[in-house]
Amino acid sequence: MPKPILIDTDTGVDDALALILALRSPELSVKAITTVAGNIEVQKCTSNVHRILDLLQIRERPIVAQGAKRPLRQSLLTASEVHGSDGLGNVSKSLPAVEPFKPASAVQTILECCDRYGAKLVIVAIGPLTNLALAWKSDPRTMRKAGHVITMGGAFHVPGNTGPVAEFNYYVDPEAAHIVLNSGVPVTVIPLDVTHQVVVMRKEMEYRAKRRASMVAMTVLNMTREYMRYHLDTQGFNGGYLHDPMAVAVAVDRTLVKTRKVRVDVETTGTYTRGMTVSDFHNRRSRKHHAVQVAFTVDRDRFLRLFHERLWM
Ligand code: BDR
Ligand code: CA
Repeated sequence: MPKPILIDTDTGVDDALALILALRSPELSVKAITTVAGNIEVQKCTSNVHRILDLLQIRERPIVAQGAKRPLRQSLLTASEVHGSDGLGNVSKSLPAVEPFKPASAVQTILECCDRYGAKLVIVAIGPLTNLALAWKSDPRTMRKAGHVITMGGAFHVPGNTGPVAEFNYYVDPEAAHIVLNSGVPVTVIPLDVTHQVVVMRKEMEYRAKRRASMVAMTVLNMTREYMRYHLDTQGFNGGYLHDPMAVAVAVDRTLVKTRKVRVDVETTGTYTRGMTVSDFHNRRSRKHHAVQVAFTVDRDRFLRLFHERLWM
């Protein structure tokens, strides 16, 4: 039986790849997609979810719900320099227009899914954790029914990608990340420590897209062009990280990563350290604090095989 999953996304380029991976994975049944402000403004995130569903010609559509316009306390920081001003590498103008839509409420959708699917539900959160924190604040008992939250975020033993110490999703809404990581819901964190272990190169994307030559393949190729150029300019390689697809892949197969159980706080007030993940690797903190599983190694070859197998189907 496929696992019921809910994806909470700030639909940028790697989020879109993650959605494609999830929607093409027979091990998963995507019941809902909720959007949150992050890479771009939330209305654009929601349009992008519809664009991906249209592109894949998904007939039985998951619920699409829109969530927070801004983080809990901080003002919104977007990443249009990475994902383009539309969040999809500026390809949306060449895609068919999205039909007008009236999205459901993200918080309500999250709570309804927790209620309906209970311990079977996997929530894959690939943007700032604002919606999940709001759902938790409004009804912690119902949130605790969820089986598992997989969150892409944090940087433990590696530098950040938003300033020296913080990863983008947790930098954007550190208060929300702190709430979710200390909520007592079983959480697996997919930080930069593992996502920076895997890169997909532009040449390989070009080779595979041209060989497949479908509408989806060519859109993926165009959508990732600016994202990869950004990596070339800032990291020196012509390719890109697969942050969010890795979180989905872990929902498909948990053995892709090795984790350590630790208690994690997220810095919310630091002058220079906002969004930093601070963890007690010696587990000296009080047992009252909830621990989470943090991924530190990934089976790179198996992950890439899964990613390519499904992306170019
Ligand atoms: C995370 O930040 C976003 O820009 C990506 O979509 C990913 O979720 C990586 O730090
Ligand atoms: Ca994201």
